[in-house]
Amino acid sequence: EKGGYEHFMIKEIHEQPKAIRDTMTSRISKDSDEVKLDDITLTAEDLKNIDKIFIVACGTAYHAGMVGKYVIEKLARIPVEVDIASEFRYRKPIINGKTLMIVISQSGETADTLAALREAKAQGARVIAVTNVVGSSVAREADNLLYTWAGPEIAVASTKAYVTQLIAMYIIALYLARLNGSMPVEEYRTIRDEMLSLPEKAEELLAKKEEVQKFAAQNFMHKDIFYLGRGLDYTVALEGALKIKEISYLHAEAFAAGELKHGPIALIEQGTPVIALASQEDLFDKTLSNIKEVITRGAKVLAIAMEGKKDAEKSVDEVIYIPKTLQLLAPVLEVIPLQLLAYYTAVQRGCDVDKPKNLAKSVTVE
Ligand code: M6R
Repeated sequence: EKGGYEHFMIKEIHEQPKAIRDTMTSRISKDSDEVKLDDITLTAEDLKNIDKIFIVACGTAYHAGMVGKYVIEKLARIPVEVDIASEFRYRKPIINGKTLMIVISQSGETADTLAALREAKAQGARVIAVTNVVGSSVAREADNLLYTWAGPEIAVASTKAYVTQLIAMYIIALYLARLNGSMPVEEYRTIRDEMLSLPEKAEELLAKKEEVQKFAAQNFMHKDIFYLGRGLDYTVALEGALKIKEISYLHAEAFAAGELKHGPIALIEQGTPVIALASQEDLFDKTLSNIKEVITRGAKVLAIAMEGKKDAEKSVDEVIYIPKTLQLLAPVLEVIPLQLLAYYTAVQRGCDVDKPKNLAKSVTVE
């Protein structure tokens, strides 16, 4: 059942190219300039009435939602707020008929996410559900649906569901942008074509897994590990830190790199492993200067950068290059080395990778 792999998690990490491809199939393709979403009934007229989008989710799905905010605001120019479901449901958010709510849930059964969906519906919002389980509660209760076709995810630590949630966010952003006319067709084609090449690039990246394994072997005993990034890289840093916490029980924290000086840099000591995400072209120099600051204080840095950024190499201990892509799409590739790092670290530490202590795959009670 694990297809020759030692754990479900590593099997699912390797299934990502296929999961990404399956989630795009029939929705975006080379022969059409439109995004096709069969289970979304929103019209251009409806969209004119929408002045605010909420994205609500928990855990990894929430991290995918953060990417959603960034891409929807950038491409469709509609204000988006992202919320943790357990916070959203108790904070009396301002929702009305002009609100579009997007809930993201792999299982479709997460109690807080479901409660947030119900609350939004009760107040007249339209709801799009992004879920991986056909016929799940979230799928049944939402008025619009977008399935992530990741296939069954068994490991508690979410990997392939996350990357398909990212794809869903890009698809929704493109759909809304085309619907409200905020994106010229040339720009649409550029993003679409690049998305269609992601499965192949993910495959290329998986072939480099030994590089990550090596770094994990050298650093798995350190008590803390920090993740840094700016913009979309910051959202992926949060996901990378969550992954390592869950399965290797190390203390991991993600910081927006620009926040370092506002406190967290005090924690860096000799040998502290720092994972620096530097895929965003327009923020590269800023992130690089943050990397230098932590190196000065003794950090051991693994950087993730886009191919072609040779500057990265000069300054850090190790660089993993991700295949060149649009910076908007970088999270899909960049998360892969972080998943591998969490996996190999957990294996080194002898942890129960697929069933970490204290965690359940689906959180159906508060
Ligand atoms: O099924 P859901 O997507 O609603 O689950 C949300 C979180 O419980 C889930 O993403 C959790 O954070 C994972 N264990 C992360 O790997």
